[in-house]
Amino acid sequence: MAQTTPELADLYLMQTGRRLPVTFVRGRGCVLFDEAGREYLDLVAGIAVNLLGHAHPDVVAAVSKQAGQLIHTSNLYFTQPQVELAQRLVELSFPSRVFFCNSGAEANEAAIKLARKWGARDRDGAFEIITTTGSFHGRTLATVTAGGQHKYSDPFKPLPDGFVHVAYNDIDAIESATSARTVAVMLEPVMGEIGVIPAASGYLKRVREWCDKNNLLLILDEVQTGLGRTGRWFAHQHADIAPDVMTLAKGLGGGVPIGACLANPRADVFAPGDHGSTFGGNPLACAAAAAVLHVIERDGLVGHAAEMGDLLHSSLQDLGAKQVRGLGLMQAFEFEEARAKPFQQACLEAGLIVNAVDDHSVRLVPPLIISAKEIDRAHAIMRKAAG
Ligand SMILES: Cc1ncc(COP(=O)(O)O)c(C=O)c1O
Repeated sequence: MAQTTPELADLYLMQTGRRLPVTFVRGRGCVLFDEAGREYLDLVAGIAVNLLGHAHPDVVAAVSKQAGQLIHTSNLYFTQPQVELAQRLVELSFPSRVFFCNSGAEANEAAIKLARKWGARDRDGAFEIITTTGSFHGRTLATVTAGGQHKYSDPFKPLPDGFVHVAYNDIDAIESATSARTVAVMLEPVMGEIGVIPAASGYLKRVREWCDKNNLLLILDEVQTGLGRTGRWFAHQHADIAPDVMTLAKGLGGGVPIGACLANPRADVFAPGDHGSTFGGNPLACAAAAAVLHVIERDGLVGHAAEMGDLLHSSLQDLGAKQVRGLGLMQAFEFEEARAKPFQQACLEAGLIVNAVDDHSVRLVPPLIISAKEIDRAHAIMRKAAG
């Protein structure tokens, strides 16, 4: 008898994570279909990636057209889609220049290297980066070390030097941890992977002021929060500040892998030869990303995300959770008891995809195109699953 996809995965894929017992074969809008043609409403969107849902016609058209013209050249040459995408990102954010790569971790590596070079050059050799406990910045050695979660870094010791962890939403802790060695503060505007912990009111502004006062770089990891998810193009815009360095990935390509690191003129210290990535910003990924940005803008999806986020947030109040938290379409709720995983399984069986980030908390990061009707449908399933 032919082996099933999960059986083959056991044999041939490294066991780096646990998968839910479902194999998807196609998607459309906010809906995924499994091998048997069964339908699932998707509130996870490939972990905050598919901003326009699945198989969005504009992304399909842009990728198909670009694939027929030019997929890859390397960065030894200029390509139009890359330059145009950089221009658009800068216009949407703050005066800066862009380095393109392929993932969030790689974008954060670029940010860390920028900070190290800037510290060597402009801050008497300072190299330490203050990050927060519980944060998540990726899975490379430097980014697991930057992220404040021992379970992801400790198996891989020795870890790179130069990261100091402090409590999130605690400006005093950043002030106390700052020394002559400090070069930057690196934060998520909403901590995503740990279970959606938004920055407290005034926190980002005070961190910005502290960085200015002490000649430190502010690096914001907007890999998960960026590009409309929180109801603004970038989450830092809620706080009316701009970072020196910002990283993006996840939603940028609408599912096609791409990452970006933006740096303002102060932090933009890379010189030719300092950094690179073979695939970074290739025409295919950039064409996909350009289509994503175009549709978000054309269809008013940033405002829509804010509106649907409010609706989703209020719909989560009657699930028996001890806390509901989030910003825009980045929401989570936390059960008192260890019920998140059975809840996720019950939702899956009822045709709804949610993400249990641990035993207690469930994260929802749906496509920005989600409708009020779909939120109602998801809510009805979650009510039943919550029992
Ligand atoms: C805030 C944040 N930064 C970085 C990353 C790493 O991104 P990637 O998995 O694309 O390397 C993630 C992934 O979850 C993230 O949420």
